[in-house]
Amino acid sequence: MSQQSGPHHASGAAPQKAWGGVFQQPTDKRVEAFSESVSFDRRLADDDIDGSIAHSQMLAACGLMTPAEAASIAQTLEAIRQEIAAGTFTFTAAKEDIHLHIESELTARLGDAGRKLHTARSRNDQVATDLRLYCRRAIDRIDLGLLELQRAFLGFATREQGFVIPGYTHLRRAQPVLASHQLLSWCEKFQRDRDRLADCRKRTNILPLGSGALAGSSLPIDREQVQRSLGFEGVAANSIDGASDRDFVCELAFVLSLAAVHLSQWAEEWILYSTQEFGFIVLPEGFCTGSSIMPQKINPDVLELVRGKSARTIGNVQALLVLLKGLPTAYNRDLQEDKEAIFDSIDTLEGLLGVAAPLVAGTQFDRARVTATIERGHLDATSLMEALIAAGVPQRTAHETVGHLVRRAMSKGVSLAELSDEEFSADYAGWDVTFRGALGASRAVERMVSFGSTAPARVADQLAVWQRRLA
Ligand code: ARG
Repeated sequence: MSQQSGPHHASGAAPQKAWGGVFQQPTDKRVEAFSESVSFDRRLADDDIDGSIAHSQMLAACGLMTPAEAASIAQTLEAIRQEIAAGTFTFTAAKEDIHLHIESELTARLGDAGRKLHTARSRNDQVATDLRLYCRRAIDRIDLGLLELQRAFLGFATREQGFVIPGYTHLRRAQPVLASHQLLSWCEKFQRDRDRLADCRKRTNILPLGSGALAGSSLPIDREQVQRSLGFEGVAANSIDGASDRDFVCELAFVLSLAAVHLSQWAEEWILYSTQEFGFIVLPEGFCTGSSIMPQKINPDVLELVRGKSARTIGNVQALLVLLKGLPTAYNRDLQEDKEAIFDSIDTLEGLLGVAAPLVAGTQFDRARVTATIERGHLDATSLMEALIAAGVPQRTAHETVGHLVRRAMSKGVSLAELSDEEFSADYAGWDVTFRGALGASRAVERMVSFGSTAPARVADQLAVWQRRLA
Protein backbone atom coordinates (compact mmCIF):
# COMPACT_ATOMS: atom_id res chain seq x y z
CA MET A 1 0.00 0.00 0.00
CA SER A 2 2.69 2.50 1.00
CA GLN A 3 4.54 1.71 -2.25
CA GLN A 4 1.46 2.45 -4.35
CA SER A 5 0.78 5.79 -2.68
CA GLY A 6 4.44 6.83 -2.75
CA PRO A 7 5.97 9.59 -4.88
CA HIS A 8 5.76 9.34 -8.66
CA HIS A 9 9.40 9.00 -9.56
CA ALA A 10 9.11 8.24 -13.30
CA SER A 11 9.17 11.89 -14.30
CA GLY A 12 12.37 13.86 -14.04
CA ALA A 13 14.46 12.31 -11.27
CA ALA A 14 17.30 9.96 -12.33
CA PRO A 15 17.53 7.03 -12.81
CA GLN A 16 14.95 7.13 -15.60
CA LYS A 17 13.25 3.79 -16.00
CA ALA A 18 9.67 3.38 -16.98
CA TRP A 19 9.01 1.16 -13.94
CA GLY A 20 12.31 1.70 -12.23
CA GLY A 21 11.74 1.94 -8.45
CA VAL A 22 14.22 -0.76 -7.60
CA PHE A 23 17.02 0.49 -9.83
CA GLN A 24 19.75 2.85 -8.70
CA GLN A 25 21.50 3.03 -12.07
CA PRO A 26 20.13 3.92 -15.48
CA THR A 27 20.13 1.40 -18.31
CA ASP A 28 23.40 1.38 -20.21
CA LYS A 29 23.00 3.16 -23.56
CA ARG A 30 24.51 0.16 -25.32
CA VAL A 31 21.88 -2.07 -23.78
CA GLU A 32 19.13 0.29 -24.88
CA ALA A 33 20.35 0.09 -28.46
CA PHE A 34 20.84 -3.66 -28.26
CA SER A 35 17.51 -4.55 -26.72
CA GLU A 36 15.05 -2.05 -28.17
CA SER A 37 12.21 -3.43 -30.25
CA VAL A 38 10.36 -0.21 -31.04
CA SER A 39 12.12 0.02 -34.41
CA PHE A 40 10.04 -2.95 -35.56
CA ASP A 41 7.19 -3.41 -33.08
CA ARG A 42 5.83 0.09 -33.71
CA ARG A 43 3.65 -1.56 -36.31
CA LEU A 44 1.67 -2.98 -33.36
CA ALA A 45 0.60 0.56 -32.41
CA ASP A 46 -3.02 0.26 -33.55
CA ASP A 47 -3.46 -3.11 -31.86
CA ASP A 48 -1.81 -1.84 -28.69
CA ILE A 49 -4.20 1.10 -28.56
CA ASP A 50 -7.23 -1.11 -29.27
CA GLY A 51 -6.12 -3.45 -26.47
CA SER A 52 -5.50 -0.62 -24.02
CA ILE A 53 -8.87 1.00 -24.66
CA ALA A 54 -10.68 -2.33 -24.11
CA HIS A 55 -8.57 -2.97 -20.99
CA SER A 56 -9.28 0.46 -19.47
CA GLN A 57 -13.02 0.14 -20.13
CA MET A 58 -12.96 -3.18 -18.32
CA LEU A 59 -10.99 -1.63 -15.42
CA ALA A 60 -13.66 1.06 -15.14
CA ALA A 61 -16.49 -1.50 -15.25
CA CYS A 62 -14.73 -3.41 -12.46
CA GLY A 63 -14.21 -0.35 -10.29
CA LEU A 64 -10.44 -0.22 -10.77
CA MET A 65 -10.63 3.26 -12.34
CA THR A 66 -13.48 5.73 -12.85
CA PRO A 67 -15.51 5.86 -16.06
CA ALA A 68 -14.21 9.42 -16.52
CA GLU A 69 -10.62 8.17 -16.33
CA ALA A 70 -11.36 5.42 -18.86
CA ALA A 71 -12.97 7.98 -21.18
CA SER A 72 -9.98 10.32 -20.98
CA ILE A 73 -7.63 7.37 -21.60
CA ALA A 74 -9.59 6.38 -24.71
CA GLN A 75 -9.65 9.93 -25.99
CA THR A 76 -5.92 10.48 -25.42
CA LEU A 77 -5.01 7.12 -26.95
CA GLU A 78 -7.00 8.04 -30.05
CA ALA A 79 -5.07 11.30 -30.28
CA ILE A 80 -1.81 9.36 -29.96
CA ARG A 81 -3.02 6.96 -32.66
CA GLN A 82 -3.53 9.91 -35.02
CA GLU A 83 -0.05 11.27 -34.29
CA ILE A 84 1.60 7.91 -34.91
CA ALA A 85 -0.30 7.54 -38.19
CA ALA A 86 0.64 11.08 -39.20
CA GLY A 87 4.32 10.46 -38.40
CA THR A 88 4.51 13.25 -35.81
CA PHE A 89 4.99 10.96 -32.81
CA THR A 90 8.56 10.80 -31.46
CA PHE A 91 10.19 7.41 -31.02
CA THR A 92 13.33 6.78 -28.98
CA ALA A 93 15.35 3.67 -28.19
CA ALA A 94 15.34 4.82 -24.57
CA LYS A 95 11.77 3.56 -24.37
CA GLU A 96 12.18 -0.05 -25.35
CA ASP A 97 9.06 -0.83 -27.28
CA ILE A 98 5.82 0.53 -28.69
CA HIS A 99 3.96 -0.47 -25.54
CA LEU A 100 6.13 1.75 -23.33
CA HIS A 101 6.01 4.57 -25.85
CA ILE A 102 2.25 4.71 -25.88
CA GLU A 103 1.80 4.25 -22.14
CA SER A 104 4.44 6.81 -21.17
CA GLU A 105 3.01 9.36 -23.58
CA LEU A 106 -0.44 8.72 -22.15
CA THR A 107 0.89 9.21 -18.64
CA ALA A 108 2.74 12.37 -19.61
CA ARG A 109 -0.56 13.81 -20.84
CA LEU A 110 -2.97 12.44 -18.24
CA GLY A 111 -0.96 11.96 -15.05
CA ASP A 112 -2.50 9.51 -12.59
CA ALA A 113 -5.29 8.34 -14.90
CA GLY A 114 -2.60 7.20 -17.34
CA ARG A 115 -0.65 5.58 -14.52
CA LYS A 116 -3.63 3.32 -13.83
CA LEU A 117 -3.78 1.81 -17.32
CA HIS A 118 -1.25 -0.90 -16.57
CA THR A 119 -3.38 -2.22 -13.67
CA ALA A 120 -3.72 -6.02 -13.80
CA ARG A 121 -1.57 -6.13 -16.91
CA SER A 122 2.01 -7.05 -17.75
CA ARG A 123 3.83 -6.32 -20.95
CA ASN A 124 3.99 -10.08 -21.35
CA ASP A 125 0.24 -10.53 -21.77
CA GLN A 126 0.03 -7.13 -23.48
CA VAL A 127 2.56 -8.05 -26.18
CA ALA A 128 0.90 -11.43 -26.67
CA THR A 129 -2.51 -9.75 -27.06
CA ASP A 130 -1.23 -7.14 -29.51
CA LEU A 131 0.54 -9.73 -31.62
CA ARG A 132 -2.58 -11.90 -31.79
CA LEU A 133 -4.65 -8.91 -32.90
CA TYR A 134 -2.01 -8.06 -35.51
CA CYS A 135 -1.82 -11.64 -36.83
CA ARG A 136 -5.61 -11.90 -36.92
CA ARG A 137 -5.80 -8.83 -39.14
CA ALA A 138 -2.99 -10.14 -41.33
CA ILE A 139 -4.74 -13.51 -41.69
CA ASP A 140 -7.88 -11.76 -42.89
CA ARG A 141 -5.99 -9.63 -45.40
CA ILE A 142 -4.01 -12.56 -46.77
CA ASP A 143 -7.14 -14.68 -47.01
CA LEU A 144 -8.64 -11.95 -49.17
CA GLY A 145 -5.48 -11.84 -51.27
CA LEU A 146 -5.66 -15.60 -51.81
CA LEU A 147 -9.33 -15.29 -52.73
CA GLU A 148 -8.45 -12.67 -55.35
CA LEU A 149 -5.78 -14.98 -56.73
CA GLN A 150 -8.25 -17.88 -56.91
CA ARG A 151 -10.66 -15.61 -58.75
CA ALA A 152 -7.94 -14.73 -61.26
CA PHE A 153 -7.27 -18.43 -61.91
CA LEU A 154 -10.99 -19.11 -62.18
CA GLY A 155 -11.39 -16.25 -64.65
CA PHE A 156 -8.55 -17.62 -66.77
CA ALA A 157 -10.00 -21.16 -66.56
CA THR A 158 -13.39 -19.86 -67.64
CA ARG A 159 -11.92 -18.02 -70.65
CA GLU A 160 -10.03 -21.14 -71.74
CA GLN A 161 -12.92 -23.62 -71.54
CA GLY A 162 -12.47 -26.50 -73.98
CA PHE A 163 -8.82 -25.72 -74.81
CA VAL A 164 -6.55 -28.80 -74.68
CA ILE A 165 -2.92 -28.59 -73.53
CA PRO A 166 -0.31 -31.26 -72.90
CA GLY A 167 -0.20 -32.38 -69.27
CA TYR A 168 3.21 -33.20 -67.82
CA THR A 169 4.66 -35.54 -65.20
CA HIS A 170 8.41 -35.58 -64.57
CA LEU A 171 8.33 -32.58 -66.94
CA ARG A 172 7.71 -35.05 -69.77
CA ARG A 173 4.54 -35.06 -71.89
CA ALA A 174 2.08 -37.36 -70.17
CA GLN A 175 -1.62 -37.03 -71.04
CA PRO A 176 -3.69 -34.26 -72.60
CA VAL A 177 -5.71 -32.15 -70.19
CA LEU A 178 -7.98 -29.17 -70.40
CA ALA A 179 -6.18 -25.91 -69.68
CA SER A 180 -9.10 -25.07 -67.36
CA HIS A 181 -8.51 -28.26 -65.42
CA GLN A 182 -4.89 -27.38 -64.81
CA LEU A 183 -5.75 -23.77 -63.90
CA LEU A 184 -8.36 -24.99 -61.40
CA SER A 185 -5.71 -27.19 -59.79
CA TRP A 186 -4.19 -23.96 -58.43
CA CYS A 187 -7.55 -23.00 -56.94
CA GLU A 188 -7.47 -26.25 -54.96
CA LYS A 189 -4.02 -25.53 -53.55
CA PHE A 190 -4.86 -21.98 -52.57
CA GLN A 191 -8.13 -23.17 -51.04
CA ARG A 192 -6.20 -25.48 -48.74
CA ASP A 193 -3.99 -22.52 -47.81
CA ARG A 194 -7.12 -20.55 -46.96
CA ASP A 195 -8.52 -23.44 -44.94
CA ARG A 196 -5.28 -23.66 -43.00
CA LEU A 197 -5.39 -19.90 -42.38
CA ALA A 198 -8.94 -20.21 -41.05
CA ASP A 199 -7.86 -23.02 -38.75
CA CYS A 200 -4.82 -21.09 -37.54
CA ARG A 201 -7.06 -18.07 -36.95
CA LYS A 202 -9.06 -20.04 -34.38
CA ARG A 203 -6.02 -20.64 -32.20
CA THR A 204 -4.77 -17.09 -32.79
CA ASN A 205 -8.10 -15.65 -31.68
CA ILE A 206 -7.70 -16.38 -27.96
CA LEU A 207 -7.25 -13.54 -25.47
CA PRO A 208 -4.11 -13.69 -23.30
CA LEU A 209 -4.73 -10.36 -21.52
CA GLY A 210 -5.33 -10.97 -17.83
CA SER A 211 -2.58 -13.57 -17.70
CA GLY A 212 -0.35 -10.87 -16.24
CA ALA A 213 3.35 -11.67 -16.21
CA LEU A 214 2.58 -15.36 -15.71
CA ALA A 215 0.39 -15.82 -12.62
CA GLY A 216 -2.73 -13.80 -13.47
CA SER A 217 -4.03 -11.12 -11.12
CA SER A 218 -5.46 -10.77 -7.62
CA LEU A 219 -7.60 -7.84 -8.77
CA PRO A 220 -11.30 -8.27 -9.63
CA ILE A 221 -10.96 -8.13 -13.42
CA ASP A 222 -13.42 -9.31 -16.07
CA ARG A 223 -11.51 -11.04 -18.83
CA GLU A 224 -14.69 -11.96 -20.74
CA GLN A 225 -15.52 -8.31 -21.17
CA VAL A 226 -12.15 -7.67 -22.81
CA GLN A 227 -12.59 -10.81 -24.88
CA ARG A 228 -15.93 -9.60 -26.20
CA SER A 229 -14.84 -6.05 -26.91
CA LEU A 230 -11.75 -7.20 -28.85
CA GLY A 231 -13.67 -9.93 -30.70
CA PHE A 232 -11.68 -12.88 -29.37
CA GLU A 233 -13.31 -16.31 -29.51
CA GLY A 234 -12.04 -17.38 -26.10
CA VAL A 235 -9.88 -16.50 -23.10
CA ALA A 236 -6.55 -18.20 -22.41
CA ALA A 237 -7.32 -20.62 -19.57
CA ASN A 238 -3.81 -20.89 -18.16
CA SER A 239 -2.00 -17.67 -17.36
CA ILE A 240 1.48 -19.22 -17.66
CA ASP A 241 0.73 -20.50 -21.14
CA GLY A 242 -1.35 -17.47 -22.09
CA ALA A 243 1.44 -14.95 -21.59
CA SER A 244 4.07 -16.94 -23.47
CA ASP A 245 2.38 -19.13 -26.10
CA ARG A 246 3.69 -18.40 -29.59
CA ASP A 247 2.37 -21.50 -31.32
CA PHE A 248 0.05 -19.27 -33.33
CA VAL A 249 3.07 -17.38 -34.70
CA CYS A 250 4.79 -20.60 -35.80
CA GLU A 251 1.58 -21.94 -37.30
CA LEU A 252 0.93 -18.77 -39.23
CA ALA A 253 4.53 -18.69 -40.46
CA PHE A 254 4.17 -22.26 -41.68
CA VAL A 255 0.81 -21.69 -43.36
CA LEU A 256 2.26 -18.64 -45.10
CA SER A 257 5.37 -20.54 -46.15
CA LEU A 258 3.30 -23.31 -47.73
CA ALA A 259 1.24 -20.74 -49.60
CA ALA A 260 4.53 -19.17 -50.73
CA VAL A 261 5.74 -22.59 -51.86
CA HIS A 262 2.58 -22.97 -53.95
CA LEU A 263 3.21 -19.54 -55.45
CA SER A 264 6.79 -20.56 -56.16
CA GLN A 265 5.70 -23.75 -57.93
CA TRP A 266 3.26 -21.77 -60.02
CA ALA A 267 5.95 -19.20 -60.86
CA GLU A 268 8.39 -21.92 -61.90
CA GLU A 269 5.77 -23.52 -64.15
CA TRP A 270 4.88 -20.30 -65.86
CA ILE A 271 8.51 -19.30 -66.31
CA LEU A 272 8.88 -22.56 -68.25
CA TYR A 273 5.60 -22.17 -70.11
CA SER A 274 6.55 -18.67 -71.25
CA THR A 275 9.97 -19.67 -72.69
CA GLN A 276 10.56 -19.69 -76.44
CA GLU A 277 11.05 -23.43 -76.07
CA PHE A 278 7.59 -24.12 -74.62
CA GLY A 279 5.82 -21.05 -75.94
CA PHE A 280 2.56 -21.98 -74.19
CA ILE A 281 1.73 -18.67 -72.57
CA VAL A 282 2.34 -14.98 -73.12
CA LEU A 283 2.90 -12.96 -69.93
CA PRO A 284 1.56 -9.41 -69.66
CA GLU A 285 4.37 -7.01 -70.61
CA GLY A 286 3.71 -4.87 -67.56
CA PHE A 287 4.86 -7.84 -65.50
CA CYS A 288 8.06 -8.46 -67.48
CA THR A 289 11.32 -6.55 -67.57
CA GLY A 290 14.02 -5.89 -70.15
CA SER A 291 17.76 -6.40 -70.22
CA SER A 292 20.30 -3.57 -69.96
CA ILE A 293 22.45 -5.11 -72.69
CA MET A 294 20.26 -7.41 -74.83
CA PRO A 295 17.60 -5.30 -76.55
CA GLN A 296 15.39 -8.24 -77.50
CA LYS A 297 14.91 -9.63 -73.98
CA ILE A 298 11.53 -9.80 -72.24
CA ASN A 299 12.32 -11.41 -68.90
CA PRO A 300 9.98 -13.02 -66.35
CA ASP A 301 11.58 -11.23 -63.39
CA VAL A 302 8.31 -10.94 -61.49
CA LEU A 303 7.79 -14.69 -61.53
CA GLU A 304 11.43 -15.22 -60.61
CA LEU A 305 11.01 -12.97 -57.60
CA VAL A 306 7.83 -14.78 -56.59
CA ARG A 307 9.89 -17.98 -56.64
CA GLY A 308 12.85 -16.31 -54.93
CA LYS A 309 10.97 -14.50 -52.17
CA SER A 310 9.28 -17.70 -51.05
CA ALA A 311 12.68 -18.80 -49.68
CA ARG A 312 12.67 -16.29 -46.84
CA THR A 313 9.25 -17.46 -45.62
CA ILE A 314 10.69 -20.96 -45.17
CA GLY A 315 13.66 -19.49 -43.29
CA ASN A 316 11.27 -17.64 -40.98
CA VAL A 317 9.53 -20.89 -39.97
CA GLN A 318 12.88 -22.36 -39.03
CA ALA A 319 13.93 -19.22 -37.13
CA LEU A 320 10.73 -19.30 -35.07
CA LEU A 321 10.93 -22.99 -34.21
CA VAL A 322 14.56 -22.68 -33.16
CA LEU A 323 13.70 -19.56 -31.15
CA LEU A 324 11.16 -21.51 -29.11
CA LYS A 325 12.86 -24.84 -28.71
CA GLY A 326 15.15 -23.92 -25.82
CA LEU A 327 12.76 -21.77 -23.78
CA PRO A 328 11.77 -22.71 -20.26
CA THR A 329 8.26 -22.03 -18.96
CA ALA A 330 6.62 -18.62 -19.37
CA TYR A 331 7.89 -15.37 -20.87
CA ASN A 332 11.54 -15.04 -21.82
CA ARG A 333 12.91 -12.02 -23.62
CA ASP A 334 13.88 -14.23 -26.53
CA LEU A 335 10.22 -13.98 -27.52
CA GLN A 336 10.78 -10.42 -28.68
CA GLU A 337 12.58 -12.00 -31.65
CA ASP A 338 9.37 -13.57 -32.94
CA LYS A 339 8.17 -10.33 -34.49
CA GLU A 340 10.56 -9.60 -37.31
CA ALA A 341 10.21 -13.17 -38.57
CA ILE A 342 6.43 -13.21 -38.68
CA PHE A 343 6.22 -9.61 -39.93
CA ASP A 344 8.56 -10.55 -42.76
CA SER A 345 6.47 -13.57 -43.73
CA ILE A 346 3.30 -11.48 -43.69
CA ASP A 347 4.90 -8.68 -45.74
CA THR A 348 6.34 -11.19 -48.18
CA LEU A 349 3.00 -12.93 -48.76
CA GLU A 350 1.21 -9.65 -49.24
CA GLY A 351 3.85 -8.63 -51.76
CA LEU A 352 3.56 -11.91 -53.66
CA LEU A 353 -0.22 -11.83 -53.73
CA GLY A 354 -0.20 -8.20 -54.84
CA VAL A 355 1.47 -9.13 -58.15
CA ALA A 356 0.27 -12.71 -58.64
CA ALA A 357 -3.44 -12.05 -59.21
CA PRO A 358 -3.01 -9.32 -61.85
CA LEU A 359 -0.29 -11.35 -63.57
CA VAL A 360 -2.66 -14.32 -63.87
CA ALA A 361 -5.47 -12.07 -65.08
CA GLY A 362 -3.24 -10.63 -67.82
CA THR A 363 -1.76 -13.88 -69.13
CA GLN A 364 -2.91 -15.64 -72.31
CA PHE A 365 -2.26 -18.96 -73.95
CA ASP A 366 -0.62 -19.02 -77.38
CA ARG A 367 -3.39 -21.31 -78.58
CA ALA A 368 -2.11 -21.75 -82.13
CA ARG A 369 1.30 -22.78 -80.92
CA VAL A 370 0.01 -25.26 -78.32
CA THR A 371 -2.44 -26.79 -80.75
CA ALA A 372 0.18 -27.15 -83.49
CA THR A 373 2.17 -29.62 -81.35
CA ILE A 374 -0.58 -31.21 -79.24
CA GLU A 375 -0.41 -34.55 -81.11
CA ARG A 376 3.32 -34.90 -80.38
CA GLY A 377 4.49 -37.23 -77.64
CA HIS A 378 1.76 -39.90 -77.89
CA LEU A 379 -0.33 -38.25 -75.18
CA ASP A 380 -3.24 -40.54 -76.17
CA ALA A 381 -1.40 -43.79 -75.33
CA THR A 382 -3.08 -44.13 -71.93
CA SER A 383 -6.46 -43.46 -73.50
CA LEU A 384 -5.90 -46.30 -75.99
CA MET A 385 -4.70 -48.59 -73.20
CA GLU A 386 -7.89 -47.94 -71.21
CA ALA A 387 -9.98 -48.65 -74.34
CA LEU A 388 -8.31 -52.07 -74.58
CA ILE A 389 -8.93 -52.65 -70.86
CA ALA A 390 -12.61 -51.75 -71.38
CA ALA A 391 -12.69 -54.39 -74.12
CA GLY A 392 -11.50 -57.01 -71.62
CA VAL A 393 -7.70 -56.95 -72.04
CA PRO A 394 -5.87 -57.25 -68.68
CA GLN A 395 -4.17 -53.96 -67.77
CA ARG A 396 -0.62 -55.32 -67.85
CA THR A 397 -1.23 -56.81 -71.30
CA ALA A 398 -2.90 -53.66 -72.61
CA HIS A 399 0.01 -51.57 -71.29
CA GLU A 400 2.54 -53.77 -73.08
CA THR A 401 0.54 -53.86 -76.30
CA VAL A 402 0.21 -50.07 -76.47
CA GLY A 403 3.91 -49.81 -75.59
CA HIS A 404 4.68 -51.85 -78.71
CA LEU A 405 2.39 -49.61 -80.78
CA VAL A 406 4.08 -46.48 -79.44
CA ARG A 407 7.47 -47.95 -80.35
CA ARG A 408 6.16 -48.65 -83.85
CA ALA A 409 4.85 -45.07 -84.22
CA MET A 410 8.10 -43.61 -82.80
CA SER A 411 10.24 -45.51 -85.30
CA LYS A 412 8.11 -44.16 -88.16
CA GLY A 413 8.00 -40.67 -86.68
CA VAL A 414 4.18 -40.59 -86.63
CA SER A 415 1.38 -40.34 -84.06
CA LEU A 416 -0.63 -43.38 -82.95
CA ALA A 417 -3.59 -42.20 -85.04
CA GLU A 418 -1.39 -42.24 -88.12
CA LEU A 419 -0.72 -45.98 -87.87
CA SER A 420 -2.72 -48.17 -90.25
CA ASP A 421 -5.29 -50.74 -89.14
CA GLU A 422 -2.88 -53.46 -90.32
CA GLU A 423 -0.18 -52.08 -88.06
CA PHE A 424 -2.55 -52.00 -85.07
CA SER A 425 -3.68 -55.56 -85.84
CA ALA A 426 -0.07 -56.75 -85.96
CA ASP A 427 0.33 -55.92 -82.26
CA TYR A 428 -3.27 -56.48 -81.16
CA ALA A 429 -5.35 -59.19 -82.82
CA GLY A 430 -8.62 -57.81 -81.42
CA TRP A 431 -8.17 -54.44 -83.18
CA ASP A 432 -11.13 -52.83 -84.92
CA VAL A 433 -11.68 -49.25 -86.06
CA THR A 434 -13.86 -48.31 -83.07
CA PHE A 435 -10.65 -48.17 -80.99
CA ARG A 436 -9.71 -45.11 -83.02
CA GLY A 437 -12.26 -43.27 -80.89
CA ALA A 438 -9.66 -43.28 -78.09
CA LEU A 439 -7.00 -41.58 -80.23
CA GLY A 440 -6.12 -37.94 -80.59
CA ALA A 441 -5.67 -35.44 -77.77
CA SER A 442 -9.23 -34.07 -77.83
CA ARG A 443 -10.90 -37.47 -77.80
CA ALA A 444 -8.55 -38.68 -75.07
CA VAL A 445 -9.60 -35.71 -72.93
CA GLU A 446 -13.32 -36.27 -73.61
CA ARG A 447 -13.12 -39.85 -72.37
CA MET A 448 -11.71 -38.88 -68.94
CA VAL A 449 -15.13 -38.75 -67.30
CA SER A 450 -14.62 -40.16 -63.79
CA PHE A 451 -15.10 -37.72 -60.91
CA GLY A 452 -12.24 -35.22 -60.68
CA SER A 453 -11.02 -36.00 -64.21
CA THR A 454 -10.35 -33.66 -67.10
CA ALA A 455 -13.34 -34.36 -69.40
CA PRO A 456 -15.10 -31.13 -70.47
CA ALA A 457 -18.33 -32.03 -68.65
CA ARG A 458 -16.45 -32.74 -65.42
CA VAL A 459 -14.45 -29.54 -65.65
CA ALA A 460 -17.62 -27.57 -66.39
CA ASP A 461 -19.07 -28.97 -63.14
CA GLN A 462 -15.98 -27.88 -61.26
CA LEU A 463 -16.04 -24.43 -62.83
CA ALA A 464 -19.60 -24.05 -61.57
CA VAL A 465 -18.56 -25.22 -58.10
CA TRP A 466 -15.76 -22.66 -57.99
CA GLN A 467 -17.99 -19.88 -59.35
CA ARG A 468 -20.32 -20.47 -56.41
CA ARG A 469 -17.54 -20.89 -53.87
CA LEU A 470 -15.65 -17.75 -54.85
CA ALA A 471 -18.71 -15.58 -55.53
N1 ARG B 1 9.69 -5.68 -25.92
C1 ARG B 1 9.27 -6.89 -25.26
C2 ARG B 1 8.75 -7.88 -26.32
O1 ARG B 1 8.46 -7.46 -27.39
C3 ARG B 1 8.19 -6.54 -24.32
C4 ARG B 1 7.95 -7.54 -23.24
C5 ARG B 1 8.98 -7.42 -22.23
N2 ARG B 1 8.68 -8.09 -21.04
C6 ARG B 1 9.62 -8.25 -20.16
N3 ARG B 1 9.31 -8.90 -19.10
N4 ARG B 1 10.83 -7.79 -20.36
O2 ARG B 1 8.65 -9.05 -26.08
